[in-house]
Amino acid sequence: MKKTPYIIGNWKMHKTSRQAADYMESLLSLIQGVQANIFLAVPYTAIASLAQLAKNTKVAIGAQNMNDAREGAFTGEIAGLMLKEAGASFVMIGHSERRTIFKETNEMIHRKLIRALQDDLKPVLCIGETLVEREEGKTESVLHHQLASAFKEVPKEEAEKAIIAYEPVWAIGTGKSADAQTAWQAHEHIRSVLIELFGDESGKKIPILYGGSVKPENAKELMQGGEVDGVLVGGASLDPAIFAKIALSCTGSPE
Ligand code: PGA
Repeated sequence: MKKTPYIIGNWKMHKTSRQAADYMESLLSLIQGVQANIFLAVPYTAIASLAQLAKNTKVAIGAQNMNDAREGAFTGEIAGLMLKEAGASFVMIGHSERRTIFKETNEMIHRKLIRALQDDLKPVLCIGETLVEREEGKTESVLHHQLASAFKEVPKEEAEKAIIAYEPVWAIGTGKSADAQTAWQAHEHIRSVLIELFGDESGKKIPILYGGSVKPENAKELMQGGEVDGVLVGGASLDPAIFAKIALSCTGSPE
C-alpha cells in the first residue's frame, strides 16, 4: 500500500508574514478534503505566525535551511533550535540552490542533517544531478554519493525520520519537469540505495518525493510511479489555489 503522500511547498525567498497569513487562510479552506501530509517550507520570518495558524490542521510548517552548529558566532545564520522553538517541525537540507549558489558541500549537508536530527527537526534531504552529470551518465553515482555522504554513520532508526526529495537540478525552476519515466527510474535507484544503506525495512520506509517544475498538469502522472511518495513544489506552490490543485491531484480526492 502506498504511504500517505507528502506534498511540500517550497516558497524560497517569497512572501512577507502578512502575505503568508493570507495564503494560509485560503489554503486551509481549499485542502479540507485532502488526505495528505502538507508541508510548507517558508521564510524564517513567517514560521512562528504560520505555525500558530497551522495548529491542529494537516499542514506542517518548516524552514528551507539551517546552520550546522548548535549556536555561535555565525552572523546572519539560524540554528535548528531557533526554528524548532518558533514552531518548525521540519527543515529542508541540501536544496540545489544552497549547493550551487551558496556552495554547500556534501560534508556540510551531512553536518546539517545530523544537527537537524539532534534538534528534533525532520530533515527533508534534497538530492539531484545536474544536466552535465546526467549527460555524462553519472546520475546514479551522483545520487548514491549524495545519499551515502549525507547519511554517513547515521543509524537506521534516525534515518527513518528523514524524507528524500529527488530534484534533478535541470528541472528546477525551468518549467521542464523530468518526464515520468525518467523520474521513476531515479526514484527506483534511490530506493535501492536506501535499502543498501539501511536494510530492507528501514530503506523502504523513507519517503521519496519528486521535485522540479511540478504543476497541476504533471503531478498525477509523476505520482503513479511505485516509488514516488509525494512532490516538492517550488514556483507552483506560491498560489494557494494551484498548490491545492496539485495536492488534490496527487491524492485523487474529489475536486
Ligand atoms: P520548481 O522548484 O517547482 O519551481 O521547479 C522546485 C524546488 O526548487 O524545490
